[in-house]
Amino acid sequence: MKEFWRKKRMNPENKRILAIDIEESTPSWRHLLIKAKLIYYFFQRHLFNLWLKVRLWDEMPPELRKLWFLNREGGMFREKTYRMCDRRHALKGSSILVPGAGFGHCIFQLAAFRPRKITAFDVYEYSKEWDFVAQTCKDRFGVEVVFEKGGFETVESEGRFDWIISDAVLEHIKDMDGFLKSSNRHLKDDGWFYASFGPIWYGPGGDHVDWGGEMTRWDHLICEQRLYEERFEKKGLGAAAGTLEGDFLFHGRLFSYLRAEEYFEKFKEAGFFMDLGIAKVNWFARRILKNDPDLSKKLDERNVPKFDRFINGFLVWMRKSK
Ligand SMILES: C[S@@+](CC[C@H](N)C(=O)[O-])C[C@H]1O[C@@H](n2cnc3c(N)ncnc32)[C@H](O)[C@@H]1O
Repeated sequence: MKEFWRKKRMNPENKRILAIDIEESTPSWRHLLIKAKLIYYFFQRHLFNLWLKVRLWDEMPPELRKLWFLNREGGMFREKTYRMCDRRHALKGSSILVPGAGFGHCIFQLAAFRPRKITAFDVYEYSKEWDFVAQTCKDRFGVEVVFEKGGFETVESEGRFDWIISDAVLEHIKDMDGFLKSSNRHLKDDGWFYASFGPIWYGPGGDHVDWGGEMTRWDHLICEQRLYEERFEKKGLGAAAGTLEGDFLFHGRLFSYLRAEEYFEKFKEAGFFMDLGIAKVNWFARRILKNDPDLSKKLDERNVPKFDRFINGFLVWMRKSK
């Protein structure tokens, strides 16, 4: 294994993240710790859902009232969310498509469920990381993983996947209708679509840049363009919390710019049936907004949807057929 790392010379940050993911996909004492945390979160989730629904009912777009409401991540670790997929439609022996796989850091945890095959693609190529992930999944789990550079057109035939699994991708998709239609076409009739997405553009931190401090979380929505650009110049690429992501995404306009409600309208239009949807509420962000009428007024002036302002993101499990 050491030899493999040495030869491949991956981006050190990607390498570090992949090492953590390998560890998380392998049974260990950490799993016991996670299990203990999950018990705590099980109770916390039910309480927060009720409490947040009561407090936020009038502020929610009616279509979104059916969702579950969590405070921030609410214990929705990958271990948990993939298990929730597995309970709905077995991952073991399935064929899984992972659009927007990035350098492949969610793949190990999926491979641990022993699907028949994982096909993954991304518009950017990470050949070294992909070779490493594919080789490791074969060696550890006996699972075939194939990576392609590009979009849905790189995937041969349609209607052959049991699952489409996408983490942290939808908020970056420019042509959401096209993306969802292709997703639907590539699924078997009894196939499922799982997505976790966020931060969303109109929410706190929607530009994916950490400017430091909680009060700056909406600056991408209210700052004058020139001042905002000056910040990038001052902070340089370091603005992106250790990666090049924020700067790269912002200047490439790599966001869907959709409102929370619009995502759900588009899921429906594309023919998906929602089995479970979860909203991640940032209660702390809402408190800041309540206590700072000037900030809220600025967001009003920019027509920032009232609900999105304190939403971190969503998780959805959807079926192709009823
Ligand atoms: C934030 S990264 C998430 C990567 C990975 N899913 C993860 O959880 O680490 C979003 C990825 O989506 C990819 N992406 C954006 N639009 C895409 C598209 N239309 N087709 C395929 N990949 C896309 C980007 O290149 C990027 O690697």
